[in-house]
Amino acid sequence: MAQEGPYGIFAGRDASRGLATFCLDKEALRDTYDDLSDLNATQQETLRDWESQFTFKYHHVGKLLKEGEEPTVYSDEDEKDARDAKKE
Ligand code: HEM
Repeated sequence: MAQEGPYGIFAGRDASRGLATFCLDKEALRDTYDDLSDLNATQQETLRDWESQFTFKYHHVGKLLKEGEEPTVYSDEDEKDARDAKKE
């Protein structure tokens, strides 16, 4: 996992809280699923803005699971579809 650069601290963590509150402190970056239920309306909106920016700019590479959540199992066909889609 690439952890270099000023924003390397986000890598491999749930960065939602940090993004929502413009905070790079350790407390805002969780190693496990963060339910974010205490964020206020402005913070939630900030987070949605980041999400749309990243969705536009980057491909999904993975998903952080909450406790008890099962990982999605992708078939070879799905992977092939994803590769084909990227080529377009
Ligand atoms: C004085 C404070 C800050 C300055 C000067 C600054 C500056 C920048 C700059 C120049 C970039 C573009 C880097 C690039 O494209 O290579 C960037 C990206 C970014 N900044 Fe900051 N930043 C600051 C604070 C913060 C804080 C507090 C957060 C926490 C949420 C944050 C989150 C991000 C993220 C997530 C990106 C990457 C966006 C992307 O990949 O599209 N920044 N920042």
